[in-house]
Amino acid sequence: MKRHLISAGDLTRQDALLILDTADELARVSDRSIKKLPTLRGRTVVNLFFEDSTRTRISFEAAAKRLSADVINFSAKGSSVSKGESLKDTALTLQAMGADAVVIRHSASGAPHRLATWVDGSVVNAGDGTHEHPTQALLDAFTMRRRLGALDGRRITIVGDVLHSRVARSNVLLLNTLGAQVTLVAPPTLLPVTVDSWPCEVSYDLDAVLPKSDVIMMLRVQTERMNASYFPSAREYSRRYGLDRDRLAKMADDAIVMHPGPMNRGVEIAAEVADSARSTIVEQVANGVTIRMAVLYLLLGGETQ
Ligand code: NCD
Repeated sequence: MKRHLISAGDLTRQDALLILDTADELARVSDRSIKKLPTLRGRTVVNLFFEDSTRTRISFEAAAKRLSADVINFSAKGSSVSKGESLKDTALTLQAMGADAVVIRHSASGAPHRLATWVDGSVVNAGDGTHEHPTQALLDAFTMRRRLGALDGRRITIVGDVLHSRVARSNVLLLNTLGAQVTLVAPPTLLPVTVDSWPCEVSYDLDAVLPKSDVIMMLRVQTERMNASYFPSAREYSRRYGLDRDRLAKMADDAIVMHPGPMNRGVEIAAEVADSARSTIVEQVANGVTIRMAVLYLLLGGETQ
């Protein structure tokens, strides 16, 4: 494996399977009443969050703590970033403090890549702008594999605001590496222009794709990143691209519904679908801790400890 995890495309099939298998092992620890392992004792993990986050930040913190690492949480609000300190100077500060891993979320696509040139430790991308979110893709693949078995030949449909979604891009890359067939469904205005070069199919017709899918992954409509009107109204969007009870009924019997969170209930997903037995949304959050433990363990050389 490479020293950093910046893109899902950095992972070979062998790397991805190693992370998923390691997470399977670590899941057993998460099931115990005492969840802590001594593996990363004496190591320092810095969570560097320049953008809002609930589950990703908490999940990385829980993962590092379960492996006994020292965790420093840094959020841009209340730090010298609000005094105009640059990412580079922040990075040099972390470097001076001896961070073994830096987990970064930033609104600028490419920020983790830049950071990796300034620090000696491993950089883990926890979401950069509209670019990538590789650990989300890993936890999604882990969740699918636990529910459905190996992903080779499985049909995964990702629906919604692909344009602003780092989750979609990382999932397409990783799922392709794992041998799954991915279809993106979105209004044309919410697809990136480069989508033709992505290793997946594109459809504009959710109802046609639904019955053939093993997984339906809904994406949040990211209004905070929208500087224009991409669809007529939330109601119209839900009618064409939302997952409601009627559409759920068209899915194959053992097919599952996923969403990375946070959800806009009633827009891309109906509340009753989100809370149904088909939904893996809560499992995804639990699996997020396990996958991040596996990533930190493998990147920080857990095996040689
Ligand atoms: C996603 C993100 O931040 O990219 N959420 C997450 O990490 N759980 C998706 C989103 O914000 O819609």
